[in-house]
Amino acid sequence: MKAAVMYQQGGLPQYTNFPEPIVHNEDEVLVTVKAVAIKHLDKSKASGKHYSSDAPKESGKVIGGDGVCLLADGMRVYGMGISGMLAERATIDKDRTVKIPNDLDDATAAALPNAVIGAAMGLKFKADIQPGDVVLINGATGFTGRVAVQIAKHYGAKKVIVTGRNLASLEDLLSLGADEIVSVMQDDESFKAQLTVIHAATPIDVIIDYLWGHTAEMILACVKGKGSFTNRVRYVSVGSMTGDLIQLSAANLRSVDLQLTGSGLGAWSKPQVGQLFSQILPEMFALAAAGKLKVDTVTVKLENIAELWDLEVDGGKRLVVVI
Ligand SMILES: NC(=O)c1ccc[n+]([C@@H]2O[C@H](COP(=O)([O-])OP(=O)(O)OC[C@H]3O[C@@H](n4cnc5c(N)ncnc54)[C@H](OP(=O)(O)O)[C@@H]3O)[C@@H](O)[C@H]2O)c1
Repeated sequence: MKAAVMYQQGGLPQYTNFPEPIVHNEDEVLVTVKAVAIKHLDKSKASGKHYSSDAPKESGKVIGGDGVCLLADGMRVYGMGISGMLAERATIDKDRTVKIPNDLDDATAAALPNAVIGAAMGLKFKADIQPGDVVLINGATGFTGRVAVQIAKHYGAKKVIVTGRNLASLEDLLSLGADEIVSVMQDDESFKAQLTVIHAATPIDVIIDYLWGHTAEMILACVKGKGSFTNRVRYVSVGSMTGDLIQLSAANLRSVDLQLTGSGLGAWSKPQVGQLFSQILPEMFALAAAGKLKVDTVTVKLENIAELWDLEVDGGKRLVVVI
């Protein structure tokens, strides 16, 4: 079969012939792959930088973690690869599939799940979002942030505040349900002043963070209390686009009723992952099929994988390889 194969960590994937994967037990099933989104997780695993990366193999490894595929009976499902998914054929975990509604195109169905995971799992299980909550999304202009804005509103957020660096993208988020925008490009004092005013007027309940780094330090400083009762803030780190480390003073932690947590592989319970497949993804696919959850994709062909691997897709779009 044809596949995108990585021979060296940090190198470029090659479009080449590769042996078809073998089903090892009854929990696995062989599928025909239709579309695979290229996400930060795939790139960071392929480069060996992600905390869940496998050791490199000299004989090469097919890349791509999840995607849209056809089962033997022709049913179209989203699945998580046991073998790499950027290939004509792959093996997937039989219990981790979601049927895709007929009205949803392959590219959208391939692109949505990672963003739904990056948005809904944090909002629902880590922040325990409640109807009427005020939600701040730090780094909302990316593909996952755009989905998070819409899911936060779907879960009943009263107000969604978004931060980002691209003003046009930020303004575009207003059409997806955001209520207030805060530019991270202004100077630190102006950023903090704007957020402090917002927090005083409409206390922030939930923070979903895709950036971390310096903006996280500033946001945490803005929710710092002054020694009397404070609003409970649930802060969830989901990504670290602008840095993996922050400085956080102990006084800041003691001054506010703060729950600081993360959402990612290893941070969820088995029942929560079960709910992702049984309830959350089907619900989000249905919303997308009904035009109520909107995403933009750029589709490319598998044979061009080496040239496209490092392609920067801007404006909150997702690169999807169709096979
Ligand atoms: N833990 C999970 O379950 C999970 C799931 C999905 C995603 N993630 C993580 O979440 C993060 C975002 O993912 P994504 O899919 O939204 O990626 P994306 O579509 O590539 O978007 C990246 C975002 O980061 C912003 N950004 C990058 N550099 C920046 C800088 N120097 N200053 C300010 N903003 C900057 C981009 O802003 P512009 O719009 O201005 O370019 C954009 O908003 C990644 O770290 C990803 O790994 C985690």
